[in-house]
Amino acid sequence: MRVCLKGGRVVDPTQSLDGRRDLLIEQDRVAAIAPQIEAGEARIIDLTGKAVLPGFIDLHVHLREPGFEDKETIASGTAAAVAGGITAVAAMPNTEPPVDSAAVAALIKEKAAATGFCRVYPIGTLSRGRSGAEPADFTSLYGAGVRAFSDDGAPVVDSRLFRQILQLLACFPDTVAIAHSEDLSLAGEGLIHEGAVSKKLGLPAIPEVAETVAVARDILLAEAAGARLHLAHLSTAGSVELLAWAKRRGLPVTAEVTPHHLLLTSEEICRSGAQAKVNPPLRTADDCRALLEALRTGLIDIIATDHAPHRAFEKAAGLRAAPCGIAGLETAVPLLLSELVGTGRLSLPDLVKAYSCRPAELLGLEGGSLRPGAPADIVVIDLEAAGIIEPQNFYSRARQSPFAGRPYRGRPVMTIVGGKIKMEQGVVHGKKD
Ligand code: DOR
Repeated sequence: MRVCLKGGRVVDPTQSLDGRRDLLIEQDRVAAIAPQIEAGEARIIDLTGKAVLPGFIDLHVHLREPGFEDKETIASGTAAAVAGGITAVAAMPNTEPPVDSAAVAALIKEKAAATGFCRVYPIGTLSRGRSGAEPADFTSLYGAGVRAFSDDGAPVVDSRLFRQILQLLACFPDTVAIAHSEDLSLAGEGLIHEGAVSKKLGLPAIPEVAETVAVARDILLAEAAGARLHLAHLSTAGSVELLAWAKRRGLPVTAEVTPHHLLLTSEEICRSGAQAKVNPPLRTADDCRALLEALRTGLIDIIATDHAPHRAFEKAAGLRAAPCGIAGLETAVPLLLSELVGTGRLSLPDLVKAYSCRPAELLGLEGGSLRPGAPADIVVIDLEAAGIIEPQNFYSRARQSPFAGRPYRGRPVMTIVGGKIKMEQGVVHGKKD
C-alpha cells in the first residue's frame, strides 16, 4: 500500500522541518518526504492547509484492562487515543491484576494487538502487586519488554524499599522509574489543593508540600541509586524548582505535565465539582504559569494526559466519594492547540517536541519522527477547525470532563498508525460501540 500525503505543512523537529512537503507512506513506514513527490499509483490525499505531524505519544494513560473494564478497555481507550490524534500510549499498571509479571504484560500486548487502535506499551509496577511491600519481579517484566515501572496512583511510601527498587532498576539498561510523588501523610484526607478555595469551601485539602517533599525524596533516592527517574504529573511551582535543581546537577531526571495542570486551577472545583477532582489536585494560577514556562523551556520534558477514566455514576457521587481522575485523551490536542499554540504561548514545533519526539526518546520507542524509515505514525491537524468539547461523543467510556463545553480551534482530523488510517474527521475506523 502506498499513500501520498500531499501539500501539508509538515512539522518535524527531529529534522528541523516546518514547511510544505509531500510525504510518501509505503506499507507501514515513511518512505520519502520532499517538496514534490511523483506518487505514481499511490493513493493521494490532499492536505493543503493542514498540518502533518508525527503522531502524539502519551506516556501516562490508564486503560483499566484487565480488571476495570467497566471504566475503560484497551479497545475503548485506544479508540479514544486515535480519536485524539495519539498513535501510541504507555499504559499504567494499576489494573487488576496489576502489571507485576511477564504474564500480565503479555496479556495486555496480546489484547492490544487484537482489539487496540494504537500502539500500547505496558508499564510494570515498582512493587509486587503495587503493595509497597517488596520489589516487583523486574527480571520477568524486563524479559517481557517492559522498560518503565510505576506504582502510579500511589507512591512507594517506604523510602528504604524505594531505594532498594531504584538500586535494582539501575542494573537493567534503558529502564526508568516513574514516580507518583506524593507524601500520603501530608496529603491526608485532602480533596483539593490547600489554599483560598479549600478555605472558602471548608474542605480538607492537600498542601503543595505533599508533592514537593516527595519530589525531593524521589530525586535524592534516584541519585543515590544511580537510577533514571521520571516525575509524573508535576503540579506545583516548587516541584519545577526541584526538577531544575536535579537537572543542574546532571541527574537523569525527567518530568511530565498534564493539560489539566497547565490549564485549570483549583477554582475549577467550584464550577465542575468532582469532574475536576484529580490527584495531584489542580493548583493555583502561579503554578500553571510556572509549569507552562518549564514546558516552554524544555525543563519539563513532556506532556502526558494521565487519562484516568471513571464511570459517570462514580464521578457523580459528590466531591468526597468520587474517585480522582480526568479523561484526557480526546481533549488534550484540541485544548493544547487552542489555548497554548493558538494564543502564541507554545509553538507548534514545541508542542510536537513535548508530546511526540521527547516521549519517544524517553522510552526508546520508535515514532516521534517522520524521517524516512520511521513508522508511519502520523497525525493530521486542522488548525482552523472549531468546535466545543462534547464528552457525550467521546470514544472513551468516561464520557465526562471538566472541559465540557469549552470552545476550541484546532483538532486532529486524521490519525495514521503503522501506515493505516485509524481516524478520519473524528470517526474511528472499525470501532463498533
Ligand atoms: O487522578 C488520578 N487518577 N491520579 C492518579 O495518580 C491515578 C489516577 C487513576 O488511576 O484514577
